[in-house]
Amino acid sequence: MSNTKKILVLAGDGIGPEVMRQVRRIADWLAKRRSIGFDMEDGLVGGASIDANGFPLTDETMADAMAADAVLLGAVGGPQWDNLPFERKPERGLLRLRKDMALFANLRPAFVFDALVDASSLKPELVRGLDTMIVRELTGGVYFGEPRGIETLPDGTRRGVNTQVYTTPEIERVGRVAFELAAKRRGKVHSVEKANVMESGLLWRETIQALHDAEYPNIELAHMYADNCAMQLVRTPKQFDVVVTDNLFGDILSDCAAMLTGSLGMLPSASLGADDKNGKRKALYEPVHGSAPDIAGRDIANPLAMVLSFAMMLRYSFDMAEDADLIETAVKNVLSSGLRTADILQANTARVSTSTMGESLTRELDKLTS
Ligand code: IPM
Ligand code: MG
Repeated sequence: MSNTKKILVLAGDGIGPEVMRQVRRIADWLAKRRSIGFDMEDGLVGGASIDANGFPLTDETMADAMAADAVLLGAVGGPQWDNLPFERKPERGLLRLRKDMALFANLRPAFVFDALVDASSLKPELVRGLDTMIVRELTGGVYFGEPRGIETLPDGTRRGVNTQVYTTPEIERVGRVAFELAAKRRGKVHSVEKANVMESGLLWRETIQALHDAEYPNIELAHMYADNCAMQLVRTPKQFDVVVTDNLFGDILSDCAAMLTGSLGMLPSASLGADDKNGKRKALYEPVHGSAPDIAGRDIANPLAMVLSFAMMLRYSFDMAEDADLIETAVKNVLSSGLRTADILQANTARVSTSTMGESLTRELDKLTS
């Protein structure tokens, strides 16, 4: 029996396929130079699946995702699918993967490479050395809460409804992930909600506090309202070590944190489920950026968030920290050498294409291991 890791590759839409191709290069490099083989199978998600099958995710692909050791996803969505009925939009494919795989913990590290300090929209001294981890709850809250829908009232008025809802176990399990991460980092957690206006936020606050007191008394815990957190992220971002928050606030705050690093094109993510009885957990890795239809197919997109997502997969799913480190070092060195995709281009740097960035990474990996 082979123990080759099975990876389902869902490149998706827009720039998804072109950034995913750079991951393939790295996987090929690992196979050739380090004899690490992956069994990588391609599937369709989002608009690509709608065009082929009529739905953003088929049951077969969903089953493949459940059977895989990890899923790598590019991006979903594009203007050509914007007017489809809600349930058939590209995003539903991604949301079904998250829900059915029970990927409740979404890790979004915001890390500033020294070479990119000047690419941030904030002053260099505010972001130099920034290393923050946003832990976003991913299978609950307003994204999935019932009731939901759009209805027409008797007087003809239309009414749109979504429900923000959390239970204590949902809050506790994502809270544990945050505290465990903080224990391996700088020992500090900010828990973020709107306990001042939402009951679900108040429950969030009380539950995180109780979990802290019972199991993680040595971690420093602070509570913060989400609006304040948005402000603090652009004021003094380095105060944050681990931020734990709900699905919607996490979506918003992680885009904000991403820009601190210079570009949305730099931010990877890992979405993790619970450990099963064999100590394995379901996982999906994807860049935080979207499908960027305006620049798709032009070989100018930044592949680094996708590549760093692949590195996260090695680290979190396959315990291959050494290889993950290697890839992250290659990214760091290539940036230091002055090569940049358009989104992070600065004075005195050289603009390169998506594929040249990928080639440069494998060349740097060669150098690092020679
Ligand atoms: C993200 C994205 C998704 C989300 C979309 C594409 C459904 O913005 O992963 O942050 O809202 O969760
Ligand atoms: Mg988002």
